[in-house]
Amino acid sequence: MAQSTKFWDRIAAKYAQQPIADEAAYQKKLQITRDYFRPDMTVLEIGCGTGSTALLHAPYVQHIRAIDFSANMIAIAQAKATAANVTNVTFEQASLEDLQLPAASLDAVLGLSILHLLEHREAAIAQVYTLLKPGGIFVTNTACLGDSMAWFKGIVPLGRALGLLPLVRVFTTQALVDSFTQAGFTLEHQWQPGKNKGVFVVAKKPG
Ligand SMILES: C[S@@+](CC[C@H](N)C(=O)[O-])C[C@H]1O[C@@H](n2cnc3c(N)ncnc32)[C@H](O)[C@@H]1O
Repeated sequence: MAQSTKFWDRIAAKYAQQPIADEAAYQKKLQITRDYFRPDMTVLEIGCGTGSTALLHAPYVQHIRAIDFSANMIAIAQAKATAANVTNVTFEQASLEDLQLPAASLDAVLGLSILHLLEHREAAIAQVYTLLKPGGIFVTNTACLGDSMAWFKGIVPLGRALGLLPLVRVFTTQALVDSFTQAGFTLEHQWQPGKNKGVFVVAKKPG
């Protein structure tokens, strides 16, 4: 994990400058997510990066705790929150794996462009399931490289050895869907804006 943390720390400033790749798709995902939000909701974002999405969602919920294991990502996110005078988002340097929260304490969890970066996606999905209240939602956007870029798996070890890639897992959309359903979630939305784009999923904990 230390190697991946270093990777994200190193690219944080550059990441913050990158424009949204597909603005229309991004806006649609924000709107689908907001349709679930209520003003009294407590939300966790895992792998929040430089905090842009958490800050955009902040007016629609009571509180967002946004974590990322990269200190540089969190520093940028915190500076943006201060500049925008947003007070209901708490940015915190923490890894998902070390996060300690009471079971059934969250209304929603956001995991945007992170599930394919985790060592154990199934464990993370099960962890989120436990943290959500019955009826809570897990909103994710995931690169499913196994669909049409399975060859990518072959270059990950070299890319990692050269420090050019973080930890990346290669799996298909079907494998991702299976991970959600095996954890107990029901899928409310599944949308891929185009070939080789991330798969957007809203998964609900029954209740
Ligand atoms: C591709 S970026 C996505 C950032 C943001 N969610 C977005 O959509 O722009 C992935 C982020 O996840 C963070 N990350 C990766 N693995 C993590 C883990 N195990 N715990 C916490 N953060 C993690 C990285 O530091 C990075 O900021």
